[in-house]
Amino acid sequence: MAQTAPMEDQAARLALREDLARFDCRIAQPDDPPLFTRSPNSASQTTLWRWKDLEPLLERLGEQLTLDAGGQRRTLRLQNPGLPFGTTTTFWGSIQVILPGEIAGAHRHTANAFRFILKGSGATTTVNGERYTMNEGDLVLTPGMTWHDHEYHGETPMIWLDVLDISLMRSMHATFFEPGEKIQQEVSAVPDASWRKWGSGLMSPPGQAPRTADNPLLVYPHEVAQAALQAAAGLPPDPFDDVVLEYRNPLTGGPAMRTMGMRLQTLRPGMRGRARRHTGSKLYYVVRGEGATIVEGRTYEWSTGDFLTIQPWAWHEHLNRSSTGEATLFQVNDFPAMSVLGYYFEEERAEAAS
Ligand SMILES: [Fe+2]
Repeated sequence: MAQTAPMEDQAARLALREDLARFDCRIAQPDDPPLFTRSPNSASQTTLWRWKDLEPLLERLGEQLTLDAGGQRRTLRLQNPGLPFGTTTTFWGSIQVILPGEIAGAHRHTANAFRFILKGSGATTTVNGERYTMNEGDLVLTPGMTWHDHEYHGETPMIWLDVLDISLMRSMHATFFEPGEKIQQEVSAVPDASWRKWGSGLMSPPGQAPRTADNPLLVYPHEVAQAALQAAAGLPPDPFDDVVLEYRNPLTGGPAMRTMGMRLQTLRPGMRGRARRHTGSKLYYVVRGEGATIVEGRTYEWSTGDFLTIQPWAWHEHLNRSSTGEATLFQVNDFPAMSVLGYYFEEERAEAAS
């Protein structure tokens, strides 16, 4: 940005720099990058990760890395090339591989996390004493500071998407991490109690609902989500996303997690969405089918298993050029965090005249 300050002012600012620094103070300097830009200016880059590239990498991770029950997870991070770390400005998406017979030991952390199961079934996860079996397409939540561990006794490797709001947590300097005293938690007498109470989303035991904004649900099974999406296909189409639903907190109607929003959507054959841009970031996973997303004029063709993140405030629109096949996308975004801070804005492109 061109500097408009007179030369004397610039010289005075530079001359003050060292004196002020001695007292841990500073003033704006001529060589500072612009502090306020007219619109978001993100270093985060729109990035497509293709399953055909990821799959062999995951196989190598499975062969070459061991999963120490008390230590590191075996995860392949989706690293945004424009950022020092993380998939987007607020969260990290990673693909975790767990092999038959393995246990990922108990721990807890401030970062909110969830997993969306990509391949396989049968692993169990225990969250604060509740135990659930995870199957392909399930969404499982581990909200901040809940204990969680995983165990798998199947036949073939299981793969899931892990998303944690690590970059947001780190930017707030709020990192806590605690390993469990034991590798696995004790499981509650009713291991799936919260699902039994709240899982229908329609009815729950009489009496006072918990006086908390925390989501009582920990799992959103694939079949339930699919059935809801099929029902929503009877509604008028969303002009940007066709058929789209948000995973919700059944107590408040708000997003399923405090900081991250998750959605599932279907783009029907021939669908062409309108363009929109928004603050905040998001990551898509292509559950099935193929299509394309045009971001700032560049077309990203995607198909089953691919991941796509879109730069904040970039115009984008989705299309499904197939005449027969539907495409299903899972999305995670940071809109709940952005909204509660008052930083969420969106803009729709006016429809073309033709
Ligand atoms: Fe964790």
